[in-house]
Amino acid sequence: YVLGIDLGTSAVKVSAVDRNGEIKAQESFDYPLNQPQTGYSEQNPNDWVMSTTVAIVRLILDDHIAPQSIKGISYSGQMHGLVLLNKDNQVLRPAILWNDTRTTKQRHEIETQMGDQFEAITGNRPLEGFTLPNLLWIKENEPQIWKETATFLLPKDYVRYRMTGKLGIDYTDATGTTLLDINTNQWSKLLCEKFDIPEKILPPLLKSTQYVGNITDQYAEFSGLSTETKVFAGAADNAAGALGAGILNSNQALSSIGTSGVILKYEDQPNPGYHGTLQMEDHPDGGYYSMGVTLAAGYSLSWFKKTFCNDMSYAELNQAAQKSTIGSNGLVFTPYIVGERAPYADANTRGSFIGVDGKQNLGDFIRAVMEGIVFSFEDLLNIYREQGSEISTIVSIGGGSKSEIWLQMQADIFNRPVIKLKNAQGPGMGAAMIAAVGLGWFKDFQECAKQFVHRDQVYQPISANVKKYAEIYAIYHQVYEQTKQIN
Ligand code: XUL
Repeated sequence: YVLGIDLGTSAVKVSAVDRNGEIKAQESFDYPLNQPQTGYSEQNPNDWVMSTTVAIVRLILDDHIAPQSIKGISYSGQMHGLVLLNKDNQVLRPAILWNDTRTTKQRHEIETQMGDQFEAITGNRPLEGFTLPNLLWIKENEPQIWKETATFLLPKDYVRYRMTGKLGIDYTDATGTTLLDINTNQWSKLLCEKFDIPEKILPPLLKSTQYVGNITDQYAEFSGLSTETKVFAGAADNAAGALGAGILNSNQALSSIGTSGVILKYEDQPNPGYHGTLQMEDHPDGGYYSMGVTLAAGYSLSWFKKTFCNDMSYAELNQAAQKSTIGSNGLVFTPYIVGERAPYADANTRGSFIGVDGKQNLGDFIRAVMEGIVFSFEDLLNIYREQGSEISTIVSIGGGSKSEIWLQMQADIFNRPVIKLKNAQGPGMGAAMIAAVGLGWFKDFQECAKQFVHRDQVYQPISANVKKYAEIYAIYHQVYEQTKQIN
């Protein structure tokens, strides 16, 4: 087997996958997300390690995956989050996550100093939640912690460190720090000088499939894993999601609904000219991918459930939404409940329900939330359409791929066929593919994808629905401009 460890924002999921790409067992374990102030979003790195270990122990004890049969392990991880370590590699403070928006000031300082040059170097704008602005926030607000900082890691890199004792970051996550020069794939000396980031705190760069080390004696004892098991670097969750969905060439796109939402496209070159509206990151196969991110996609639905109908299961939420109509009986939701990243890089905007009517019921509200999330993806797809890059099919992963109604809704709103994968594979499968290629089971990701990526059903757009949704989307699209001052 290979183990794919998918370190998400709400939980870790560990999958044991065999040489045929079949998932033999899967375990997951949650951890809390702390919001000590509006706009703040933090997690305790040790919670990731404990939860990952619980999931591994369950795989071994409950699912009877023999430790000796696990040949390789790799990772998919929530991006951008800042883990600070001191000289003894001890965690200095809670991690500041990708959906934390406290760094608007730092973002503006970087933008003022560097203008378009920043995007030319990194492929990205210095948006809230990215690692460089987070580092600058620490420097300014927690000087004592900054003084003690010996290195930083991203979330899954910290878990890998605890399992192997080796520090490092892979290229797909390094682009997400906005400190890597995406043209040369080296840490940018210019950015380090400009923003006074000591080069010695930058972790070593690794290829996703690079062998990092074996499981340490200490972690083997703690988890039950074998010290024979080899560990490979891994990738950012969206990069791993792209791998797991077989997005390895440029006319296919990915639609992913996790805590965040993502529309992602493979790119051969780092600069196709999206002018900062989309992010640009390294792909594990040596190419690139662009993506637009909705900060609160699955998070909008989980917030709604927790706040208004926590006694219902997600299956019941789906049933209630199914009973509503296309357009949720006139209700429109915009998912900017923690601010937005794309297409509006606006941390201060907030979401809304528009068109509330006394005849609407809970099912209408649930459906409006689901539709609003897909409309925000349609905004992202339109950025590609405006650039003339045609996307033939869209592969759906995450929460959106587990619900029939959400899959059909995506096909109807995107007016494109939407593909569902077998076993609802996702970033965890991408992580397993990295280990499989790292072990030499396959020559490259193309070969591995033939064995590991299994496409299932295709949802075709239904023309009557496409027409209705186009009308409602036109209304949705006006809401941001009309409401952006309210926060
Ligand atoms: C990507 C991003 C999110 C996280 C979610 O830029 O911030 O999609 O990776 O885990």
